[in-house]
Amino acid sequence: MTTTMDINDVGMTAFFIAHFRDAERDRADGLFDDPYSRWFVPDEVRTYAEKFAELCPEFETLIRCRLLFFRELVREQIEYGVRQVVSVGAGFDTRPAIFRTEGVTFFDVDQPAVVQYKRDVLEGHGLEPWPAVAGNYLDVNLPRRLQEAGFDPDLPSLFIWEGNTMYLPRNLIFGFLNQLDAELPAFTIAFDYMSTRVVNCSTGVDSVNAVFDYFYEQFTPFITGFDDPGVFERATPLKIAASGGMEEVFHSRAPQYAGALAPLAGLYSYCILVK
Ligand SMILES: C[S@@+](CC[C@H](N)C(=O)[O-])C[C@H]1O[C@@H](n2cnc3c(N)ncnc32)[C@H](O)[C@@H]1O
Repeated sequence: MTTTMDINDVGMTAFFIAHFRDAERDRADGLFDDPYSRWFVPDEVRTYAEKFAELCPEFETLIRCRLLFFRELVREQIEYGVRQVVSVGAGFDTRPAIFRTEGVTFFDVDQPAVVQYKRDVLEGHGLEPWPAVAGNYLDVNLPRRLQEAGFDPDLPSLFIWEGNTMYLPRNLIFGFLNQLDAELPAFTIAFDYMSTRVVNCSTGVDSVNAVFDYFYEQFTPFITGFDDPGVFERATPLKIAASGGMEEVFHSRAPQYAGALAPLAGLYSYCILVK
């Protein structure tokens, strides 16, 4: 049986995000319902996450924007005909259970200990785990490993790369995107990224600097940020299909947060690239 002790610092951040997915259920103004994330929230992580939210409720709201963004994207893309959804650095993403659809295959990619822990928990609750590639995706040829797990490069595919870029060296981020481009005939990849000001704790917003001092101490520091999505087009052959600030995600769904989020504009963003 794999335990949380087998999971490294970057892997532990996956529990942190599971907490926020779960917490949405208990909010009077909750925007989505994830009945499975509760299985992936150890008590000590819940305590850290609650402290994070207390230090900077606005950044907690940006995390909620992110969760809504990726969730809606998966739902829409399946409606539009995507047949494979690959969650790269999947952590405890439970969307495969939520959006299970005839003709659509979901794949997880994560470190072996995270994949095994997730399998154990899903099986323990009577849920069949979905296909997964276990390994460091920067060290392997991911498209080939996915094909060994049943991925078909000729079917329409969406890659979700959520909550990962900030932990990776800049050159490896571009290397990874370029490898997907070299190996796959067509695909869409959606990811989030932090501003360099969040990475350096120099945002000009005291509560944001304080909350990331806390996060970096409890979990692991972010190492890479970006301030212009154009860099992804310059460093890869991929084209931007959409990009924007996370706060924009709430504009239509939860406009009551607009005032509180305005000072955080540009600190946390999303980007969708296509080949
Ligand atoms: C912040 S968590 C995000 C998890 C998930 N995408 C979500 O949003 O809930 C980052 C995850 O990416 C995984 N990860 C980061 N770098 C990785 C790498 N090079 N190879 C495999 N997994 C990686 C970690 O193990 C962790 O589970």
